[in-house]
Amino acid sequence: MMNKTNNPKIELHLHLEGGAPPSLIQQIAKEKNVDISSIFSEDGNYLFRDFTHFLSVYEAATSVLTSPKDFYRLTKAVLEQSAQNGVTYTETFLSPDFCGSANVIAWRDYLAAIEEAATEAKKDWGITMQGIVTCIRHFGPNKAKRAALCAAETAGDFIRGFGMAGAETVGTQGDYACSFDLAREAGLKLTTHAGEWGGAESVRQAIQDLNVERLGHGVQVIDDPALVEEVIDRGITLEVCPSSNVALSIFPHIKSHPIAALREMGVKVTVSTDDPPFFHTTMCREYELLTDAFNWSDADFKELNKTAINAAFCDDETKVRLLKELDTE
Ligand code: HPA
Ligand code: ZN
Repeated sequence: MMNKTNNPKIELHLHLEGGAPPSLIQQIAKEKNVDISSIFSEDGNYLFRDFTHFLSVYEAATSVLTSPKDFYRLTKAVLEQSAQNGVTYTETFLSPDFCGSANVIAWRDYLAAIEEAATEAKKDWGITMQGIVTCIRHFGPNKAKRAALCAAETAGDFIRGFGMAGAETVGTQGDYACSFDLAREAGLKLTTHAGEWGGAESVRQAIQDLNVERLGHGVQVIDDPALVEEVIDRGITLEVCPSSNVALSIFPHIKSHPIAALREMGVKVTVSTDDPPFFHTTMCREYELLTDAFNWSDADFKELNKTAINAAFCDDETKVRLLKELDTE
């Protein structure tokens, strides 16, 4: 495989807790005398059987993170990994439900710690982070409203968007429409997990009921050619996470992943890691796998990164800087 470390990379879909190195979670668990050994394999990796089990292992790992300081450490560890993989700009999903149970006052403290870590990471490693506040679908619409309120209260230079993660099998996208309306009215950009597990119908709901400009995954849209056309016409960008989809058995291997077919049809696709240590991946590995599977070249990755910058939720000044950096590479 080629070494893809030096390509500058733009990542639009990364769950902050999902980036937690297992060693950090084990260390924090030890410091707090909490036993979560059952979520780890003997070699120290996260261990899960399927998507539902993945979500419960994810939440067990996250349960040891109970203070702003823990989230400061987490953010530093995640951004260090990203920067080592050549990521220069990352949009990270932040969940108020895991940061003081979506209480706005507590959330402000957690967010201040995350932002402090992000500021240091930018200074030390040259990586820019922006936050997308994320509600969790299987926690239900009422909790989602609390997360949306946290998002609206802290919208600004750092918090740029609102989204939804979690089990797509629970309820409909439209059940969460008032949370998305609240976030939109606060000036936030919108994305939601759709078409990962939920099939093309979930993509249709996300577009019609939530009016999002990006889709987390979205890849199942491939089953509905008319909807693919609609995604293209509306200029919606997909946050595609190939190794995540393979690790969770949505596609059997990278060669059968629809990212290349969608791109050829004219859909705006980008590449991200989702939850890198859970899926044994990094941004470099994604680039290497795509190079091997689809023969993508540096020019293809440059185009992908341009698409990502154009779809990013940051301000125009940042976009101009990132585009310039990409061109002078
Ligand atoms: N899908 C849905 N929800 C998630 C994921 C994912 O891959 N990772 C963390 N929360
Ligand atoms: Zn995700």
